[in-house]
This record gives sequence, C-alpha cells and structure tokens, in this order.
Amino acid sequence: MTAFTPSDCISVAIHRSAQPAEFAASLRRSFERRQIDPKFHYTSARQAAEWLALHKKYSPFIKAADGTAVYDAAFNWAVENLPASSVQLLSLACGGAGKELRLVKTLQRGGKKVSATVSDISVPLVIEGVRVLTREAGLTRVDAVALDLLETEELYEVLTAGAGQRDRRVVTCFGLMPNVDPLLISAQLASLIRPGDVLLVGANLVPAENYEQSTHAVLGEYDNPETRGWLSLLLADCGFEPGDGEIRFAVESCASLPELLQIVSRYHFYRDKAISLDGQTLAFSAGENLRLFFSNRYTPALLKQVFAGAKMKIPGEWISAGKTEGVIACQAR
Ligand SMILES: C[S@@+](CC[C@H](N)C(=O)[O-])C[C@H]1O[C@@H](n2cnc3c(N)ncnc32)[C@H](O)[C@@H]1O
Repeated sequence: MTAFTPSDCISVAIHRSAQPAEFAASLRRSFERRQIDPKFHYTSARQAAEWLALHKKYSPFIKAADGTAVYDAAFNWAVENLPASSVQLLSLACGGAGKELRLVKTLQRGGKKVSATVSDISVPLVIEGVRVLTREAGLTRVDAVALDLLETEELYEVLTAGAGQRDRRVVTCFGLMPNVDPLLISAQLASLIRPGDVLLVGANLVPAENYEQSTHAVLGEYDNPETRGWLSLLLADCGFEPGDGEIRFAVESCASLPELLQIVSRYHFYRDKAISLDGQTLAFSAGENLRLFFSNRYTPALLKQVFAGAKMKIPGEWISAGKTEGVIACQAR
C-alpha cells in the first residue's frame, strides 16, 4: 500500500440538482414526458468513459484539420482581452476538459496566473476535469461543482463561492449547446457574465449553405454501433431489455427555435413495457416512441443569433474552414 497524500482525494461540491434524489425525480419526469434530457447519458462512470471514447473518435475538435486552430485563435484573443494578471477560469459542462487544458496553457504563456472551477452534471467528468487541469496544466487550485446548469437557480453564486471577487473571469461553454435548449442556456449564461468577463462558446457546426443536407450528412457520426451502445447504457440501467424496441435516428426541428435543426435519436417500442423508476411504475405501449437524445446543429449565424437574443455582444468569432467547428466570444453589453 502506498502512503496517503492529500492529492489522493478530490473534493467535488454536489449541488442539489445533481444529488441522487433530484436526479432520480428528474429522470422519471423525463421518461414521463417521453423526452430524455441528454444529461442522463453522461453521468455513470461507464457512460462517461464511453462518451470520452466516442468524443475521441468523432469530435471535429480532434478530427478536423483546423479543429484545434479555431480554439487556439479564440484563446489568444481571450489573453489579449483579459487585462488582469489573475484570471479565473469557469468551465461549464467541462467533459474531459481537453479544450480548457489548451486555454489554461495559452493563458499561462500570456503571463496570467490562473485559478479554475470546473463544473458538469457528471461527477466522473468533473473529476476528469480536475485531474486534467491539475496534472497536465499544473494548476494548484481547481474547484469542482457537479450541477445541472439549467436547473440551478443563482448559478453565479453557486459557481463563484470561494473565488476571488476581483479576478477577471473567462467562462467556457464548449460542446454543451447541442444538448440543451438554446433559449434556456443562453439566458442562464447571460446571467453569469459580469462586465469585463469573457464567455467563450464552442460547438460543432454545419454550414448554412444546404443546411438540411449538411445536417443529414453528419447523421453517421451518431447512427453507428458505438453511439447506439452508449445511448443503450441508460436504457439497460432503467430496466429495458433487448427486444423491447429499437433506436432510430432522424433530423428534426428544435421545438423552441424551429429554424434550428437537430439530430434526434428516438426509441421505438416493439412491445408494451413497464419499468420502475423513482418508486413509480411507468408504462409504455407498443408503437409509441420516446426521444432518447438530441444534438442541435447550429450554423455560425444561428449560434450568434441565440446569444444576441440574450442581449450579449459578440466581439469575436472563429469558424473552421469546413464550418464544422466554431467558437464565439460573448460579453455583457
Ligand atoms: C458533448 S459534451 C462536451 C464536453 C466538453 N465541454 C467538450 O467540449 O469536449 C457535453 C457535456 O455537457 C454536460 N451536460 C449536459 N447537460 C448538462 C446540464 N444540463 N448541466 C450541466 N452539464 C451538462 C455533459 O455531462 C457533458 O460533459
């Protein structure tokens, strides 16, 4: 046995929205509405590990020739536009924090002293975020919060408790826009940004030209055995069995912003099925379906439109040549 050191332990603050009781109730409500919130696909250790493997295989950030270049350009801009010598990074939906690692290294090269808070709905991914930023970027202080960004009231207070009030903040929100309602998330993010702070939002994009056709063209990144396997983990965990139904993928319109297209995965029931969740029995009938997952596909213009609609100014945008990856900078007006 090796001797104990403080780095053997990681402290994660778990907000009510990510605690088991609220989480179970929220999952039950998702099934009752026949609309599963994508957050439920990231939270177990196995889901997090399988998502990290999928991300490595399919993400344009890793795959596209200039995938990292757009992020690096945005990070260099952030260094120039954050005049303070101390910067606090607030990473939202951090996932594996690979993009934040590049940002921290860019800030450090720019002479900034960096402290960080990472957050995500997934405890395993928050822990991965802390691990990456401490071990690979050498940060000595990384706070960690597990929370649902859409269901946390007073998000600012929750995320900045304990942080230096005078530090300028760079807030990152990478890869989340596909998985959440555009109007709800933009309003939440706008509530978090203070004058002088920089919010960087990154997402997989599709070109505006032939928007529908271009969205159909990325269906294969979802309709594949690995993604089906990843999405099936939740179904199996909730008591569904092979033969109860099948997963199908299609392109649909986003309900709250119909001009935005999304890749949607639906579970179609072959037979009647009952499961037990959160102390209740939920019944499904043969022939019905539930939305298992969605991924919004923004064009560069739609992404900006959503944040302009939340009354933010957009002083920078960086889009890859193929328009498959983009980052915008937002600030309080
Ligand atoms: C597609 S991944 C992107 C991860 C990472 N930022 C990246 O760009 O590689 C989406 C992330 O959002 C998190 N997430 C999804 N819904 C969330 C919610 N409502 N609140 C907080 N995190 C959420 C997931 O756990 C996952 O880590």
